[in-house]
Amino acid sequence: MLVSATEMLKKAKAGHYAVGQFNINNLEWTKAVLLTAQACNSPVILGVSEGAGKYMGGYKAIVGMVNGMLEGLSITVPVALHLDHGSYDGCMACIEAGFSSIMFDGSHYPIEENVEKTKELVKIVKAKNMSIEAEVGSIGGEEDGVIGKGEVADPKECKLVADLGIDFLAAGIGNIHGKYPDNWEGLSFEALDAIQKETGDMPLVLHGGTGIPEDQIKKAIDLGVAKINVNTECQLTFTAATRKYFEAGKDLEGKGFDPRKVLAPGSQAIQDTVKEKMELFGSVGKA
Ligand code: 13P
Repeated sequence: MLVSATEMLKKAKAGHYAVGQFNINNLEWTKAVLLTAQACNSPVILGVSEGAGKYMGGYKAIVGMVNGMLEGLSITVPVALHLDHGSYDGCMACIEAGFSSIMFDGSHYPIEENVEKTKELVKIVKAKNMSIEAEVGSIGGEEDGVIGKGEVADPKECKLVADLGIDFLAAGIGNIHGKYPDNWEGLSFEALDAIQKETGDMPLVLHGGTGIPEDQIKKAIDLGVAKINVNTECQLTFTAATRKYFEAGKDLEGKGFDPRKVLAPGSQAIQDTVKEKMELFGSVGKA
């Protein structure tokens, strides 16, 4: 059964480790993440962007697939199904569809509007035992080939949003989605420290988990990060493994064109990446 992410992240923050959010894009991705979480005895969060939601045939299709896999693959570790960077309407659709967690990304609104919309969603979500993540300080990333610098959140605004009844908070600390540019200055630990001091027990979320050096990941966990999002790295390893399969001409051998065979190396690559991250984040054995 899907669970909200509230308890797993409270435990993570108290225990000084982080739970991974791995974004899913299809059936293979989902299965690979679930099997790895079970093998590692780790709690896990499956992230779904609005784009991936559309691609997979809608939020209800995803809920059906994930619930079916929990049963069919005998998954017993805590699993949350979470909307990543949701709009207000996207959040409402996922609440309706049976997700167990949502992120409302109101970071592009003026703070007053972010607060109002977050408050409304908190009320709805709490009545359904779901969890909700809010965001302050937008997280940069690549758009049209230009990599935007990650914004650093204002600790006072973080405190304001943390007090709205949300379960975990994404605060920009110079992190960005996708690959980091060569001249990236690294995470702002000064900001993270100030945000954690203002927000106390609130589990903090680090987006853009791909490509952050291991020592910075560990330091971020020490300073209160309890959830780390990874998407691009799974895409990169999946694509590299699939390319290798074709370059070796495997599709030309025997029944090598069978989709189950074509997608197997990529699926294994995702499992390897997820396991590596769970070990780094310290969530192995914490289910
Ligand atoms: P990356 O794509 O950089 O791994 O970030 C994922 C993320 O933060 C999803 O919200």
